[in-house]
Amino acid sequence: MSSAGSNLEFLLSRRSASALGGPALTREELDRVLAVTASVPDHGALRPFRFAIIEGEGRKAFGEALAQTALERKPDLHPAKLDGMRQKAFRSPTIIVLIAAPKPGKVETWEQNATAACAGYAITLGAHALGIGAVWKSVPFTRGDALAKLFGLAPTEEMLGFIHLGRTSTDELPAIRPPIDLAACTMLIDR
Ligand SMILES: Cc1cc2nc3c(=O)[nH]c(=O)nc-3n(C[C@H](O)[C@H](O)[C@H](O)COP(=O)(O)O)c2cc1C
Repeated sequence: MSSAGSNLEFLLSRRSASALGGPALTREELDRVLAVTASVPDHGALRPFRFAIIEGEGRKAFGEALAQTALERKPDLHPAKLDGMRQKAFRSPTIIVLIAAPKPGKVETWEQNATAACAGYAITLGAHALGIGAVWKSVPFTRGDALAKLFGLAPTEEMLGFIHLGRTSTDELPAIRPPIDLAACTMLIDR
């Protein structure tokens, strides 16, 4: 297979991990995974994103902030659901929280948020390249004081979910994905 072909195979073989164990990523692995985010399309090179890295006991603070933010939005949330929110922080040994951090200026906020979302994908690809499992998750309640306080979110910033990272114990089966149908694309050709 040509190297272009194998690069495509690599991209097509990325899939989210269903279970993630330890050990946590090394600093070198984290550096290498995050380095990939520098390559995302970024109008004006604004780097409109930032990260929070969570490991070990930090997961407790994150889980609590998830639960408290959910409570802020829904004070009658069932205790079991609240506990479920706390547990979300313990699905992997390393978590990268992705924060969209749009900058003032002429580049539209939506463009900058799109760049930030690309950074999330870049993290999953970087992890894939290093043989590290990853899955991008979120919660229904992300806008609230507890999370804002934990991450120092400015009013313009937004948590775009969090990417769990860790070791996969078994080889995951390839993902079955419906193909992208060229015929379904709007074609503005030869007009
Ligand atoms: C911003 C964002 C948030 C997501 N949040 C969740 C989530 O909370 N729970 C979930 O099961 N999947 C979530 N997903 C989807 C998974 O990350 C994953 O893409 C999906 O399970 C399909 O698996 P695949 O990546 O192998 O195709 C989210 C994806 C994105 C981009």
